[in-house]
Amino acid sequence: MNLQLQRNVSLKPFNTLQIDARADWFAELTDLEQCTQLPDLCRQQPLLILGGGSNIILAGNVHGLVLLNRLRGIAVLDEDDDSVRVQVAAGENWDAFVQHSLELGWCGLENLSAIPGTVGAAPMQNIGAYGVELKDVVERVGVFYLADGTFTELSAPDCAFGYRDSIFKHALKDRCLITHVVFRLRKRPALKLEYGEIRAEIAKQRMSAESLTPLQLRQIIIAVRARKLPDPRQLPNVGSFFKNPVIPAAQLQTLLATWPNLVHYPVDGAQTKVAAGWLIDQLGWKGRVHGKAQVHEQQALVLVNMGGDSEDVLGLARQIQADVWERFGIELEMEPLIIGLA
Ligand code: EPU
Repeated sequence: MNLQLQRNVSLKPFNTLQIDARADWFAELTDLEQCTQLPDLCRQQPLLILGGGSNIILAGNVHGLVLLNRLRGIAVLDEDDDSVRVQVAAGENWDAFVQHSLELGWCGLENLSAIPGTVGAAPMQNIGAYGVELKDVVERVGVFYLADGTFTELSAPDCAFGYRDSIFKHALKDRCLITHVVFRLRKRPALKLEYGEIRAEIAKQRMSAESLTPLQLRQIIIAVRARKLPDPRQLPNVGSFFKNPVIPAAQLQTLLATWPNLVHYPVDGAQTKVAAGWLIDQLGWKGRVHGKAQVHEQQALVLVNMGGDSEDVLGLARQIQADVWERFGIELEMEPLIIGLA
């Protein structure tokens, strides 16, 4: 069936910040065959592809076509005693797939539990949490090139995954639609429990790290996330609003003289990653409001939209960036994609 194009549609239900921007045109992609219409449509107007809308800021109305990727389907490609290769369509809900995979005894995604969004959006920013990144479990990513209308698959190295980064944010930005992701998952668990918070929650729930199952670890992760990261359905947000900045080791030494508790993680000998949430928290931003946007009370890295528009949220973000720059000499980079500046 052809794409059904609708005119002048509110995008509020389709972005987790619940910003009420409008799209000139809107359609839902439910069938791979509909991709063949896209090259022509792209020549006529800009195209914005949305998954779960959980990592975008709509900074104005979208003058073009917004396409909701609703491709569905999960298929096992092959398996042996140790592992399974599974192909998942881009429009599948990420967390539903995590749950489904664990129920079937496929392991590797447990630490990535409860992340909002779709499977197809996950490679864009190489989602990561509690010591696991998408790149650890992805084998290939299926794409449709919008210019020439061809389908292909990129290997994980071709995707150039980095910290909250991939080729889809750079060379392939706005040039392709992600159709599916191929995962290689283990049948024998190898749980990653290094995070202090995870260990603390295991102890709190009186469980033993040695006998923990992947499904139990999923419940632990869900509990830890729920305490700090607000549910976007209740408090509209996009998760971490800033990336954790990477600074030269020499700058870290200078900062530690003034701020001995500064939370940091070594990247290599020359560079260190610093906890953006800690920086923002130190400057007293938790709970502060700008217009109808607020810094989350429990987690300074999350900005919540309380019925405002992108200017409220971006205005708050810019104030935080300026303050962190002034006090620490560190540039905070926004993590979500900003879309549709008029
Ligand atoms: N911290 C504070 N105050 C705050 C927030 C954090 O002092 O308000 C401190 C914490 O106490 C901790 C440190 O900062 O010592 C780091 O905080 P946390 O472990 O909560 O992780 P994060 O750096 O805030 C990152 C990811 C999250 C991911 C968690 C767990 C980024 C930008 N964010 O957060 O990812 O879930 O680690 O791995 O890398 C997302 O990308 O949307 C996201 C939620």
